[in-house]
Amino acid sequence: MQQKRVRKAVFPVAGLGTRILPATKAMPKEMLTVVDRPLIHYAIEEAKAAGIEEFYFVTSRAKSAIEDHFDVAFELEETLRGRGRSETLDELRAWLPAAGSFAFTRQQRPLGLGHAVWCARHLVGDEPFAVLLVDDLMIGDPPCLKEMVDAYGKTGGNIVAVVEVPREHTRRYGVLDVVNDGGKLVSAKGVVEKPEPAAAPSTLTIIGRYIIQPEVFGHLENMKPGSGNEIQLTDGLDRLIAGGQPFHGMRVAAHRYDCGDKLGFLEANVALGLQHPTLGGPFRDILQKLV
Ligand code: UTP
Repeated sequence: MQQKRVRKAVFPVAGLGTRILPATKAMPKEMLTVVDRPLIHYAIEEAKAAGIEEFYFVTSRAKSAIEDHFDVAFELEETLRGRGRSETLDELRAWLPAAGSFAFTRQQRPLGLGHAVWCARHLVGDEPFAVLLVDDLMIGDPPCLKEMVDAYGKTGGNIVAVVEVPREHTRRYGVLDVVNDGGKLVSAKGVVEKPEPAAAPSTLTIIGRYIIQPEVFGHLENMKPGSGNEIQLTDGLDRLIAGGQPFHGMRVAAHRYDCGDKLGFLEANVALGLQHPTLGGPFRDILQKLV
């Protein structure tokens, strides 16, 4: 079946990041650095690798560093040029977005992830789109969203990345009500946000990558606050399923680092530091001395 291509991605970056305070008091969580680049940088590169052409950010106050990161920095460029550092200059320019491919809108109050995604409705319009939660750093081959977009080419409908968690952790995640487990792909007849372990329909939970059909906006528009008194994206997805849309969870190949959590953030820095082509060797020596 020929599906409408996934060309657009939404990055909801309006959250407060309270789990990782005080780092996030004056700095966006998405600008926290893993090894040598901010989290947002990894997410954009992943989206590009999946063929995304238009990038929409749902931001809030005090998030302007995200916009600046993807803009030309004249003073910096002039200084690098003056010092003859053309290689660094080329590297900086290589990942700048094409003019007009990035757009920013604001979520004025942190009413929940579902509300943040709904804030991008006019930018997305009437086509399938990806959502990337930047604090879920996904590292692997194939890149996470690319693997999902390729699967979407066959399944259509909606796809979310999933991982199995211990049952006592279901109250932290959206959980799939599984109808058919095909291994890599799982079809679901419902999704529940943060169920108590005893009530969870499975232990297969949604992590921060989604491919969603635009009908979700109509559902989110009328959504009452759910778990945590927030407007939940999971509730919008559940309505899509109830409306008869195909819905799959995908056990993705990429590894997830939960960088919205202090320990997960440290783990990401160590793991990616060790993998780094030039820093990895000396970093391993340092770690060996330390432990
Ligand atoms: P989180 O649940 O991680 O919330 O949101 P948070 O506010 O960022 O962090 P904590 O829990 O206080 O530490 C998941 C994603 O949804 C976005 C966040 O920016 C994050 O990428 N989000 C959440 C919004 O954009 N708006 C919201 O109202 C809530």
